[in-house]
Amino acid sequence: MKTKKNKTAAEFLCLLFLFLLFAGNAGASEIYDFNPGWMFMHSDRQIAPKEYREHKSVWAGAKAGTSDAVWEFTSLKFDESECRPVNLPHDWSVEDGFYPEEDGEQGYRKRGWGYYRKRFFAPASWKGKRVELQFGGIATHSTIWVNQMLFHHNYSGYNTFTVDITPALMYGRDNVIAVEVNAAVFEGWWYEGAGIYRDVKLIVSNQARIATEDGIRVNAEVKIDGWDVNGYVNLINDGTTDLAPSLDVEILGPDDKRVEIKRFLPTLSANEKVQVPYSIRVYTPKLWSPDTPSLYKIKVTLKNESRVFDEKTVNFGFRTYKFDFTNGFSLNGKPLRIKGVCNHQDHAGVGAAVPAAIEEFRIRKLKEMGANAYRCAHNPPSENILDLCDRYGLLVIDENRTFNAAPEWLDYVRSFIRRDRHHPSVIAWSIFNEEPLQGEFRGQEIARALVKAVKSEDPTRPVLAAMNGGLFSEDSARNVLDIVGLNYQYDQIDKFHAEYPNTPVLLTEGASAFETRGEIATDPEKLTSTSYDTNPASWGTTHRKDWETVLKRRFLAGTFVWTGFDYHGEPTPYNDKFPANSSYFGCMDLCGFPKTAYYIRQAQWLDKPVLQAAPHWNLENKDGQEVDVFCATNVEEVTFVLNGKTLGTFKVDPVDMLTQKVVYDPGTLLLIGRKGGQEVIRTQIETTGKPVALKLIPDRAEIKADGRDAVPVTVCAVDASGRIVPDAKVPVEFEISGPGRNIGVGNGDPTCTLSEKADSRPLFNGYAQLIVQSDSDKKESVVITAKSAGLKSATCTLKAVSAPVLPAIAGFINQEVTVDGWRINQPSSTKPDLYSEETMSVQGLQPAQLGSELSLRPGAWVLYYAKCALPASVRENGGSLCFRNMTGKAAVFVNGELLHERKSSSTGDIVIRLKEGLESAEINVRMQPDGKGHAMLGDIIYITPEKLKKTAGKKNDPAEKK
Ligand code: GAL
Repeated sequence: MKTKKNKTAAEFLCLLFLFLLFAGNAGASEIYDFNPGWMFMHSDRQIAPKEYREHKSVWAGAKAGTSDAVWEFTSLKFDESECRPVNLPHDWSVEDGFYPEEDGEQGYRKRGWGYYRKRFFAPASWKGKRVELQFGGIATHSTIWVNQMLFHHNYSGYNTFTVDITPALMYGRDNVIAVEVNAAVFEGWWYEGAGIYRDVKLIVSNQARIATEDGIRVNAEVKIDGWDVNGYVNLINDGTTDLAPSLDVEILGPDDKRVEIKRFLPTLSANEKVQVPYSIRVYTPKLWSPDTPSLYKIKVTLKNESRVFDEKTVNFGFRTYKFDFTNGFSLNGKPLRIKGVCNHQDHAGVGAAVPAAIEEFRIRKLKEMGANAYRCAHNPPSENILDLCDRYGLLVIDENRTFNAAPEWLDYVRSFIRRDRHHPSVIAWSIFNEEPLQGEFRGQEIARALVKAVKSEDPTRPVLAAMNGGLFSEDSARNVLDIVGLNYQYDQIDKFHAEYPNTPVLLTEGASAFETRGEIATDPEKLTSTSYDTNPASWGTTHRKDWETVLKRRFLAGTFVWTGFDYHGEPTPYNDKFPANSSYFGCMDLCGFPKTAYYIRQAQWLDKPVLQAAPHWNLENKDGQEVDVFCATNVEEVTFVLNGKTLGTFKVDPVDMLTQKVVYDPGTLLLIGRKGGQEVIRTQIETTGKPVALKLIPDRAEIKADGRDAVPVTVCAVDASGRIVPDAKVPVEFEISGPGRNIGVGNGDPTCTLSEKADSRPLFNGYAQLIVQSDSDKKESVVITAKSAGLKSATCTLKAVSAPVLPAIAGFINQEVTVDGWRINQPSSTKPDLYSEETMSVQGLQPAQLGSELSLRPGAWVLYYAKCALPASVRENGGSLCFRNMTGKAAVFVNGELLHERKSSSTGDIVIRLKEGLESAEINVRMQPDGKGHAMLGDIIYITPEKLKKTAGKKNDPAEKK
């Protein structure tokens, strides 16, 4: 746009004003990353709040927001010297070691109690806005305080919740969020992690806004001649002015171009909530499916002529599907077998605090395996998992955790349904997994209440439960379900179908076959399981029989294999046999390295030739002996050629695939797969030499410099010819330089008890994994080096590329303590005595407001008082007491000693040295106003171990990039 050069100054100022007005409100809700800068401490037991007995503290503790409140942990002045800095997401249980006396189902980890605090600055510009904290998930029970006020309890590790902290914040000042986490309790029989293990966001919105939770409901419904996109927008006006805004509801296509837009003109009166329903016709959308996961967006804008109040966007999709009791599952009118995997949420090295990029790596691996469906076992997943399933094309069963119809738990259910119902990937809600009450009246009634809660939020999707037992009893949860999920019970499937032919069924859990990656034998001494898919659990079956079960029954919608990935904990079949500490069920191990089961599933599920052999060909002490060679394959026959000699061509069974005896001879075993007599694929396994060098294979060549991106790096050893040595078990050490850090290591060995937070990891059957996370705002490369004595080192480079970062709210992780809880006595015309009974009586001292100026008669006197515990570093080494922006004359006393006197009535910071050896600081400030009668103690007053010279540095800006 051209601008006239000769604009007058007035015109320019006017434009500038309009620009600032608009810019200040544009984009409306601001979302901040609240993950950085927490202080944390772990305890084996609950830390009891201090008990108070004397009048002053008890009185203050019974009041909101006073400095002597019942528990200093929740206040700004808590001594954090026992805490260490952490960035969220954080799972403390993966950081510690393994303890044989702890619960093996939770991976022999210390759970206990965790205490988190974050001190941060809330700018004055937030005053008059709404400020909410959103916790993605805290394991397990949590209690949240805001500036000493108890704000929230949450009793499940798996639900996302939002806390409106607006009224408790101190604007233009430091604030503290304190979180007590009780992970001594548990909700599962698998590893659940401990701590604030999912993201935390801080959301600042206008008083007039789109609700943070359940802001936009969207559902695409097919009609004879097109689709109706129906839903509503929940608007809130917490302000004092009635508004007549406009509300634009816009549909954007997969290319982000506008498809449709509709404008609504709701009345949004002061202090009101309004639900605005909408319905928009779309004629020929691209359909969502696992093969073509086309995603649309609903973008909602709340505004008036001069400003945007709020704007929000959610993804949705167009698809129809049906669970049919005769024909199984169909999507968009076409039959589709559900090729599903169950998964828990943790990964090697990081436990439950899985970075979004590692979640993406996992979803990609599942797609590569041929899966088209994902069951969130046994709890609602992170929001990111569902976004990924939408984007990559995985159908989802989203599952509730606790089988409880008490109001609190029904709320959790409703809230995860509201959070997740816009995802096109979600095709069913599961209300429980294998509940002992499932076959009795009580279970039926709890199930009925849960189904009702689900349907109240989403009547469009079917509700199922993963049942094991209780199928045939008269009072059974079955009676209230749309679909019955069978966990195993292979011998009951046909009986159930015969008895309840009108009930759609699927295998919500299938297989449960044990495997240790790369191992040949099942050895209870070594706690290993064979790689031949011949060792299923007594209640399960092999991967091959599981799929056969599905293929033989048209009515069975599909299967969800237990599991896609190994997970920490539940080390069946070696439960209670330390050191086995992670599962053996995965098609992939804890790092995502494929086991034989992965290739079996590829052979079953992919539409391309697959041929993969097990075991590797580095067998020890087997020369001249017969060994089984298993081929995971979907070809019709395989020709075996050992060291140039053809051993024969063997028929492949469509279910069992091929297991062929071969007399072991080191060298090369070439396998040629044929269909209709034609070669369609070939592969070979080779005997390698000894490892001579390490090799690093990063999953990607680039890493986003956003402080969040994470890249798994495969570590392996190669022989002199550069071949990966599949049985190598050498120790490896890692070094990282540049803008990245090691956030965890693993190797897929379920019996390994080495720390997952280490700079070293031995290879297990050829492989280990290192997870590298980026630092933010650095554009150089991350260089990773792996070393092992006697082997050539390996290096790889991740190019750090710039990426947008969510602005972060910094936390104060130094030992700085805000001095709060100031009290002031009545202004007097005579100089007040520091410790006279009158000035020190609780009635005489009223709470003082920092940051606000007093108007006094010239010459009047006031006396301020505060008491503050000192951080250990200040006690030991001394520090500084800083008053930011003090106005007026002042005399500052610490523990009765005059440390500073300002005789002129100026405005500015005051910094006072504190000597070492003080236990606490009782601070008195005797003040007189400036010539205009103004006096102000300061904006912020704090004590820091730093030896500040003059004025303190600028306080953290909330919009500061991480
Ligand atoms: C199922 C259960 C799963 C897991 C699995 C192991 O009964 O639902 O959580 O324990 O067994 O086979």
